[in-house]
Amino acid sequence: MLKLSLKALVCAVAVSITGVSYAADSAPISIKFAHVVADHTPKGQGALMFKKLAEERLPGRVKVDVYPNSSLFGDGKEMEALLLGEVQMLAPSLAKFEQYAKPMQIFDLPFLFDNMQAVDRFQASPEGRGLLTSMEDKNITGLAYWHNGLKVMSANKPLREPSDARGLKFRVQASAVLEEQFRAVRANPRKMSFAEVYQGLQTGVVNGTENTWSNYYSQKVHEVQKYMTESDHGLIDYMVITNTKFWNGLPDDVRSELEKIMTEVSVEVNKQADDLNRTAKQDIAKAGTTEIIELTPEQREQWREAMRPVWKKFEGEIGADLIKAAEASNKAQ
Ligand code: LMR
Repeated sequence: MLKLSLKALVCAVAVSITGVSYAADSAPISIKFAHVVADHTPKGQGALMFKKLAEERLPGRVKVDVYPNSSLFGDGKEMEALLLGEVQMLAPSLAKFEQYAKPMQIFDLPFLFDNMQAVDRFQASPEGRGLLTSMEDKNITGLAYWHNGLKVMSANKPLREPSDARGLKFRVQASAVLEEQFRAVRANPRKMSFAEVYQGLQTGVVNGTENTWSNYYSQKVHEVQKYMTESDHGLIDYMVITNTKFWNGLPDDVRSELEKIMTEVSVEVNKQADDLNRTAKQDIAKAGTTEIIELTPEQREQWREAMRPVWKKFEGEIGADLIKAAEASNKAQ
């Protein structure tokens, strides 16, 4: 009969309760941080900064491995991997949570936020903070919001008015709101993982898409899109999440230091995001592959009018009060 040492037995029991592996020889706690974008993006930089600070301030206690560009798990697999404990941290786009908390769909409503300052105010509000813990019954704990930025649209024909989008196939994230957003302008939405966007556009499986400047440039999507329209019609931001059982099972001092680090990194990511997108837009303009279209106020108003009915469609799932709170964030305090 295999004789287990008392220490090994205690460790085994601890693992089964907390989900955190306490190796008998106190090897560092492993945090795998997986995401789907390139390093030189707001989220990519944030993950690397989190790794650096966590290993500097918790030497020998914590080891962070970052897996960018869908290299470990991509869209559709990453959430399952988190719930199974195969990764410990993700930062999915806020568009990718609808199956875990319907109110999270608020972040996809077109033309909801006037600018990133409004997004900041909403995310810092009691309603915004409440969404961070709204999925703990599903073993998902939100640690922070990270910015990317407002989305622009692209296609291989100029998009100036809603009718220009009619009949085109647009790649969208896995989001019912974003599907309805493009149906509202009589286009055809196609859910597709981020890693497939370049090839989908290159082969014509889709004709257009929407994203932030930094995501377009870092994935070379401008090479297969002749026109980009600076619509600023929606948001791509992130929630940094962890497996609730794993997080609550960490030693108190480790968890509290990681929380401090996460706050510090979030401030830095949100500060850098604007610059990273501004530089990416300039690099796309310099590449000469893509004409950047500025909308007139009247044209932008036409897009807003066309897409506004989507709000009503999802008010029941999101909550009218939450939408009001988000709209109120557009007014500077
Ligand atoms: C997308 O799928 O377009 C984005 O969510 C990718 C990302 O994480 O920024």
